[in-house]
Amino acid sequence: MADSDKVYIFDTTLRDGEQSAGIGFTVDEKVEIARALARLNVDIIEAGFPISSPGDLAAVAEVAKQVKGPVIAGLARAAFPDVDAVWEAVQHAETPRIHVFLSSSEIHMAQQLHKNREDVMEMARAAVNRAARYTSDVEFSPMDATRSDPEFVYQIVQAAIEEGATTINIPDTVGYAIPEEFEAFIRSLPEHVPDMHKARISVHCQNDLGMATANSLAGILGGARQVEGTINGIGERAGNASLEEIIMAIRTRPDFMNVHVDANPAEIYNISRLVERSSGMAVQPHKAIVGKNAFRHSSGIHQDGVLKMRETYEIMDPDELGIPGGSTIVLTKTSGRHGLQSRLDALGIKPSDEEFQRIWDAFLEVADAKDEVDDRDLTAIVAEQTQIKIEDAWTLDLVQVSSSDHGTPTATVRLIGPEGVTKEDAAIGTGPVDAIYRAISRVTDTNYELTEFSVKSVTEGIDAQGEVTIRIEANNVIYQGRAADTDILVASARAYLHALNRSIAAAERQREAVTV
Ligand code: KIV
Repeated sequence: MADSDKVYIFDTTLRDGEQSAGIGFTVDEKVEIARALARLNVDIIEAGFPISSPGDLAAVAEVAKQVKGPVIAGLARAAFPDVDAVWEAVQHAETPRIHVFLSSSEIHMAQQLHKNREDVMEMARAAVNRAARYTSDVEFSPMDATRSDPEFVYQIVQAAIEEGATTINIPDTVGYAIPEEFEAFIRSLPEHVPDMHKARISVHCQNDLGMATANSLAGILGGARQVEGTINGIGERAGNASLEEIIMAIRTRPDFMNVHVDANPAEIYNISRLVERSSGMAVQPHKAIVGKNAFRHSSGIHQDGVLKMRETYEIMDPDELGIPGGSTIVLTKTSGRHGLQSRLDALGIKPSDEEFQRIWDAFLEVADAKDEVDDRDLTAIVAEQTQIKIEDAWTLDLVQVSSSDHGTPTATVRLIGPEGVTKEDAAIGTGPVDAIYRAISRVTDTNYELTEFSVKSVTEGIDAQGEVTIRIEANNVIYQGRAADTDILVASARAYLHALNRSIAAAERQREAVTV
């Protein structure tokens, strides 16, 4: 494709992303993220808003000094001290940029700036002119452009170009635009701005109506050749356009978009996780491209398709995005036999037909009670179902717990064991459940490690049934236990005995359990 078809990727994770409520990057985090952005091969990194604090100015300066490759930009209001502060920070960069913004909508000008159009026009001219004296790479953004009078946007854009702006960014500041409308507006710029050909058009879309990616792509279709966004879509309010979505949409649909990007998709997963860790903002599981579920298949029909040919239900290759493990078959109650078989294959488990049927039946039972049957559950099921059933070795006769906000929890348990013998013992613990499990260990003379304990309510109200699921481990073998009762301490005791009895059954039959 011709170079005029290249879309420049402008990352603003460190500026708009940092404007997310609750995020504040340290200097080191900014430098680390900026380095990762350079590996992602973005074209421009907006590293911060230097006038906002001495710390941010220092952070932008550090990024400018240390990160080579992309253009390093800083944001400035249309005021000389802001422009000077940006220059102080970005002058160290290989290629520095000053990004000046000023509101152009009536509501912002009247209510926030208390200025009329002439004042705003004058401010824009002066600030861009000052920036252009420092560097030839100047970006201008008429803030809230999509709620502004288009005629005024055309005029202020023309003025900014006359003063030296080389990139004109059209922000949908409050995520108000509809894609078709936004595309038409971007397309109208060259017709109404005489010097538009002297600058690159950029788009910057917020996600208030969930349309940031759609609007960004519409802007590109309308002629924009720079697109702004953030990793994981973090940003002010509902966030910004998600760069990984834009990059992958362009790469996945070149037939429709007719443009290209230079970004390296193999870095997408790593940088997404880095930003998630540094920002403390968890990526939602169903987030496009980088969410935990983005390449996980749960329903039987989809699993069957993907196992036959990945492309039946995947439009992108997770390996290309650096996603560890690639496509995954997730076992849930909607999964099919083909999916179960593939997980067993992956775990190296080769049951006979008869065993497979038993594993399948037990799997459905567990899947009905749990959202997801993971590999640990599966190995526990297999361990159990490849044994021949025997009677429970131990049953619960009594559990009694003493617990208070002060003092040590104590539990007494009475169990009926092999040959109907009743045994009773007591133990203290760090909590009531721990005390119960210690007492059971004493009675049964066992010593298992509790590796997982979870409790969930299976009915509602004060008499709700609590369902306890546990896993215990001994000699690298995991056994799962489950029990429900209106008293969760009783359920906890029964769940433990359930797992314990399975382990005893496995040992007694001396059949090889599946190791993990
Ligand atoms: O949303 C917005 O308008 C901005 C500009 C500064 C580009 O962030």
